[in-house]
Amino acid sequence: MANKRKIRRIGILTAGGDSPGLNAAIRAVGKACLGTYGIEVMGIHDGFRGLIDKNARLMALDDFSGILTIGGTILGTGRDKPEKMRMPDGSVRDMTADAVRSYRELELDCLVCLGGGGTQRNALHLRQAGMEVMTLPKTIDNDIWGTDVSFGYDTAVSIATEAVDRLHSTAESHQRIMVLELMGNQTGWITLAAGLAGGADVILIPELQYDPAIVAESILSRSRRGKRFSIVAVAEGIFPPEEVARAKQEGVELPRRDHREEGPGAIVARQLTQMTGLETRETVLGYVQRGGTPTARDRILATAVGTKCAELLAQGKTGFLVACKGDKCRPVPLEEVAGKRNVVPPDHPLVQSARAVGICMGDQL
Ligand code: F6P
Repeated sequence: MANKRKIRRIGILTAGGDSPGLNAAIRAVGKACLGTYGIEVMGIHDGFRGLIDKNARLMALDDFSGILTIGGTILGTGRDKPEKMRMPDGSVRDMTADAVRSYRELELDCLVCLGGGGTQRNALHLRQAGMEVMTLPKTIDNDIWGTDVSFGYDTAVSIATEAVDRLHSTAESHQRIMVLELMGNQTGWITLAAGLAGGADVILIPELQYDPAIVAESILSRSRRGKRFSIVAVAEGIFPPEEVARAKQEGVELPRRDHREEGPGAIVARQLTQMTGLETRETVLGYVQRGGTPTARDRILATAVGTKCAELLAQGKTGFLVACKGDKCRPVPLEEVAGKRNVVPPDHPLVQSARAVGICMGDQL
């Protein structure tokens, strides 16, 4: 059950990967809490590690000025989990009790966590350990359960779309297959949206298992119709059919992509070179998708969920993800959110639109 008590001071931290709109959200929470509701705001640096280390300071209204359009996070971030914290000697320790102790010593009445799926889980874990928490939906991947959309996603889609647009130049000029690998570790939202917006010829997402032979045939059939190039948008979370089958047989989960290793863009490019005989190049867009100034839509979303969070805190309400549902911001109990993932349904209207305009989704011709 969500709690109701007087909130005098909150801590705010950003966790997980950085994402456009984080500063807009920090500004919204900060200005509304401090300026409108008289709630003190303590900025906590570098995610959950900063909480444990009490790496924090009380913020003034001025701290929230001039940051609306800036990328990254003024608070710094990290992927640490309180229950599995890496120590300087390389060992891993459960620091949950230390986090709760710091929370009390900093005299916080609630911790506001801005983050993605992992952060929702970490926040719920801290709530179960005795802290009051609230969360905001941040991730370019758009895979947080319980919200229609997360801030960062729209900016990433814009950047990725521009990349698809720009790849057309070389694809057309050199009559090549151009493979573009986009972020989205376990979901294909960015790739689906940018592929549609940029007019990709093939879109491969983890939610629809691709068959290299089908992709190759769709490209060869374009060639036969006189189309001398193809653009293939690939989500980083896809795996070749044989790897998926092996994982299933061994009963293990497919690993998260590691950006230091060769990704599916290179694998798909290799497969297509072999199967079509056409010249193929790959591009990995990578962290560019997370960088720079947020779009207007992301700034508005971050401001809406941030100010709603402050309003709920002023009412003494905690224990929620402040989600976006239609044109409203709504609190969703963290217990309902944590541990789930918003993936692309195979029959999603955008998948149907893609098929209807002749885009190959890798699973059927
Ligand atoms: O979770 C967002 C995301 O951008 C994923 O799409 C990507 O795989 C991951 O972060 C990589 O993050 P990092 O390398 O910073 O841990």
